[in-house]
Amino acid sequence: MREAPMNSKRSTTRRDFLKCLGGAAGAVGAPWLVPASVFGGDAPSNRIHVALIGCGNQSRVDLPSVLRYDDVQVVAVCDVNKGSYGYARPEHFLGREPARQKVDEHYAKKAPSGSFKGCDAYVDFRDVLARDDVDAVMIVLPDHWHALAACMAMRAGKDVYCQKPLTRTVHDGQEMIKAVRAHRRILQTGSQYRSHGTVRRACELVRNGRIGKVEKVLSIVPGAPVGPGPGWQPMPVPEGFDYEMWLGPAPSAPYHAERCLYRFRYNLDYSGGQVTNNGAHSNDIVQWALGTDGTGPVEFEDLGSVWPPEGHLYNTAVTTNFRARYANGVELVCRTQEPGFGVRFEGSEGWVQYAEGKLTAHPESLADSEIGANEIHLPVSPNHYRNFFDCVRSREEPIEPVEVGHRTASVCHLGNIAMQLKRKLRWDPQAERFIDDDEANRMLRRPYREPWSL
Ligand SMILES: NC(=O)c1ccc[n+]([C@@H]2O[C@H](COP(=O)([O-])OP(=O)(O)OC[C@H]3O[C@@H](n4cnc5c(N)ncnc54)[C@H](O)[C@@H]3O)[C@@H](O)[C@H]2O)c1
Repeated sequence: MREAPMNSKRSTTRRDFLKCLGGAAGAVGAPWLVPASVFGGDAPSNRIHVALIGCGNQSRVDLPSVLRYDDVQVVAVCDVNKGSYGYARPEHFLGREPARQKVDEHYAKKAPSGSFKGCDAYVDFRDVLARDDVDAVMIVLPDHWHALAACMAMRAGKDVYCQKPLTRTVHDGQEMIKAVRAHRRILQTGSQYRSHGTVRRACELVRNGRIGKVEKVLSIVPGAPVGPGPGWQPMPVPEGFDYEMWLGPAPSAPYHAERCLYRFRYNLDYSGGQVTNNGAHSNDIVQWALGTDGTGPVEFEDLGSVWPPEGHLYNTAVTTNFRARYANGVELVCRTQEPGFGVRFEGSEGWVQYAEGKLTAHPESLADSEIGANEIHLPVSPNHYRNFFDCVRSREEPIEPVEVGHRTASVCHLGNIAMQLKRKLRWDPQAERFIDDDEANRMLRRPYREPWSL
């Protein structure tokens, strides 16, 4: 462990000020405002101190997206993997040491001396949470860790940017909501399409009736591989990889490289497959466009999803295919289809589609139609990370707060459950329970392996 960074010894700072307000500020759930004039701009002592927890595939995006802001300082990185290949692409060398190096190199370029050694690297995120100079954490862990790490961080007084899908189960999301509100924390769900102007425009066109009455929505996700086949053999745990801590609350299981780095998303013990992976984006856009952020569909039905044959290491849907119905009759079909990502809204008077970064519409003129002053304008966030940091300062709600991330993840989880049970399920979005189906209700939560508990 390195020496504590210099700035952990500073006198009264923005952090102290926020802490001081924390106890007295506002009723539970009410955003509270701290005037920007209280802080000294981007003065080093007033930077938001951030720790990156999880330095794998997505840290290639999240870390530079945080480092670019001068009013934010990355003070710690954490990963159970010291550093290795074996992520999404063979050439990616990732883990805590490469991440620490990236951070130090970044700040070294800006330091007058040309050198910097102020970022600490940790194996156990609880050591990060114990630091009182950390204001916020970026949780970029496999999904089975999201709720637990986020709730522990919030209990320790940290704000949280939590990668999508926000949760592994519906129950995880319910607990995260309680923690955000009880501890008055800022939580941004890492579904960054909420901060894309083109996506916002597509949603505004739908919301403002440009395609008439919405009838059908198509949400596209990619297919998934099946992984090692029957007879696959356990492998030795690589040096520098804390496998027990990687598993954490998930069931004990023999180590295999295809189980962990990046590929965890194809195993139900850690994730929900492509339904929750890419569906956390496409179904998030659906929820935004339909104005159903506080609720969700009332019915879910398998339409012929395909699952890996017995004995494969991966066990998530190879081909996603389910239908959900909202209370107003709108039908959502979420399925595997080329190009693997996109959303299409079909209405009585036309359609709007967002795919491959582009908005297309029928009639074509619809794409240019202006949204009038008295129509619905959705909240604007030009950058998902910036929006989070702005909210850490202002204590306003971010563009995708916990309740919204939870409901989007729920659409994915419930569709997944219907695909597994292969029967039509009726859902009560208020009670967040399936109607008359005990087996399905049991799948709304997964037991945590001791000693971990939410
Ligand atoms: N927003 C997006 O577009 C986007 C894109 C890709 C991934 N993601 C999300 O990011 C998350 C991570 O995905 P990934 O592709 O980076 O996976 P990954 O496996 O490549 O990286 C996860 C890292 O977390 C580490 N880790 C696991 N358990 C840990 C623990 N207890 N403490 C510390 N480190 C631990 C692993 O060693 C690994 O390095 C997932 O939830 C995924 O859905 C989001």
